[in-house]
Amino acid sequence: MWGICSRAMVKVGMAKPCGLVKPCHLVKPVAATRVSGRYLSHQKGLPSLPVPPLQQTCERYITALEPIVEVDELKQTKELVEEFQKPGGVGERLQTGLEKRAGKTENWLSDWWVQVAYLDYRLPVVVHSSPGLVLPRMNFSDKQGQIRFASKLIAGVLDFKTMIDNEAIPVEYLGGKPLCMNQYYEVLSSCRIPGLKRDSVVNHAKSSRPPKHITVVHNSQFFVLDVYNSDGSPLTADQLRIQLERICSSSPQPSVEPVGILTTQHRDSWAKAYMNLIKDKVNKESVSAIQRSIFTVCLDGVMPGGSEATYHSCAAVQMLHGGGSQGNSGNRWFDKTLQFIIGENGMCGANYEHAPAEGPPIVALIDHVVEYTRKPETPDLLKSSTVPLPIPQKLDFSITPQIKKDIEEAKQSMDVLAQDLDMRVMVFSHFGKNVPKAHKMSPDAFIQVALQLAYYRLYQRCCATYESASLRMFRRGRTDTIRSASNASAAFVQAFDDPSKQNTEKVVLLEKAVNAHRSYTNMAISGQAIDRHLLGLKMQAVDEKLPIPDVFKDPAYAKALHYRLSTSQVPSKTDCLMCFGPVVPDGYGVCYNPMNDHINFAVSSFNSCEETNGARLAQAMERALLDMRTLLDQTPKAKL
Ligand code: COA
Repeated sequence: MWGICSRAMVKVGMAKPCGLVKPCHLVKPVAATRVSGRYLSHQKGLPSLPVPPLQQTCERYITALEPIVEVDELKQTKELVEEFQKPGGVGERLQTGLEKRAGKTENWLSDWWVQVAYLDYRLPVVVHSSPGLVLPRMNFSDKQGQIRFASKLIAGVLDFKTMIDNEAIPVEYLGGKPLCMNQYYEVLSSCRIPGLKRDSVVNHAKSSRPPKHITVVHNSQFFVLDVYNSDGSPLTADQLRIQLERICSSSPQPSVEPVGILTTQHRDSWAKAYMNLIKDKVNKESVSAIQRSIFTVCLDGVMPGGSEATYHSCAAVQMLHGGGSQGNSGNRWFDKTLQFIIGENGMCGANYEHAPAEGPPIVALIDHVVEYTRKPETPDLLKSSTVPLPIPQKLDFSITPQIKKDIEEAKQSMDVLAQDLDMRVMVFSHFGKNVPKAHKMSPDAFIQVALQLAYYRLYQRCCATYESASLRMFRRGRTDTIRSASNASAAFVQAFDDPSKQNTEKVVLLEKAVNAHRSYTNMAISGQAIDRHLLGLKMQAVDEKLPIPDVFKDPAYAKALHYRLSTSQVPSKTDCLMCFGPVVPDGYGVCYNPMNDHINFAVSSFNSCEETNGARLAQAMERALLDMRTLLDQTPKAKL
């Protein structure tokens, strides 16, 4: 049974597992993350994630199933739910256990969630879990340009890190409520570690000697680059440029054994290979240097840019998986929480490992960095010319025949995955948030309803649809699910192409569908949605060593978690776009960034599935959005 996170496939225990940022130059830099004072008092003031009432979740669960399961399936589920929630039944016992857990923990859900959604998840993090992020094309097309941009980018990230270290990141708000800022403290200096049954994440920012280096990878060779001067100030862009030039000139040829490709493997295979890799002392030290680094910068070799029309799709592929073993997939360490990727042709972006954070803090960091790179350079001539810098240290690996074999296997698996992924980026340029807003509709809900219409037109059915909702109003909150396929959206999509329906009726149905989506969103962000509560009840049964209740073994539950549409809105100030893979073999991954006058979409699917086709869904999305606008424009309010 499959569920998701902010979209990684989630094993939930059955057969299959299922602000504005103010400038900080005047703030005294500190090289370490010190989580204290302001941050802690803000965090303490946040409410705890509530446990929704059992009966409420049971009722809402049945309603959510209505548009996606058959009538007889629903009948059986109703009986199971009735049994589950009856007075003195197992549901009540689990609910009481969950409420006790909520009373004893900072957040009753988050640790379970990270475990189930990420650390227990065994498919490769590449494509299946880690999102890519595509930045606007930058204005350079050669190695010098690449190095110059990379040095500014690193300086920009260090500038942001100074704000993190000084707890100077302004608190963010959603719907007027302050948000949990914890994720900002989790994304730098951290790394995922493969484990034989379960992975883990280590965060070195919290250690007594936080790291002062980043790792740079060029031609699949890793380098340690110290990014702080001895006085604790971050290296300037000029200093960084000198260091990056040294790195590039000392690694002119691609490595014969791209060790980084091992991190693209299935987690079980990678865990075994990892144990073997770090048996060697030198390898262990090299791996540890990567894991401890603040972040990784991937200076990529030639990237296929395609034509102007396909540029964004090619860029999304590079950011998501690197294009395969002959491309840049070995020029990565996919376990690293944050990797910035810079090509020679102006193609830039990032890839992030999802366990520590959702997209919004990553995008806030990126927005800051992009703004920083656009500022005119102010060379610190004194520092660049007089302060001697240590030569960046190349990380050595000793390659045994077994490691060589593991690398070969990883290359093959990565190539199969790269071949299988279809990634389409569509820049919908006809309108953005402006049009739904003018019609007094939530833009996010409008886009989600359009997606329902697009899917229905292709498949003549509704499917379980996941949209990530932020739970950051609560301390250490992560996400819950907005179930975008609702009774109201089903009624609208069924009526839209029905010639017997009047436009006035269609508009009423559209408004109902949009309002239903917005209500679900409000319910989800206030901790009253159903999915994480159901997961919690199930995890509670596991915790109490009770049999898994029948309601979780029901085919309808499996159907509810088989998200053929896995979606997420990741807004940004910069005109960028996040992308990710589908979470089921016969599904789509749809990420979108609604700007004021256009919307960026990344639509993914697997080539191995005959039923899905990213280009067709993207086209259907475009048509649905345009048709919905036409409907609203052609149906004056007065006639309603
Ligand atoms: N009339 C006019 N304007 C409206 C409106 C209406 N009826 N409803 C909403 N708007 C406006 C809002 O005020 C907002 O204005 P802004 O552009 O000035 O900020 C804008 O439209 C967008 O609102 P909406 O489209 O409703 O979405 P949202 O910003 O509330 O976001 C979610 C909805 C679900 C995306 C958000 O709650 C969330 O949870 N985000 C996090 C998702 C996440 O974690 N993703 C990453 C996963 S890796």
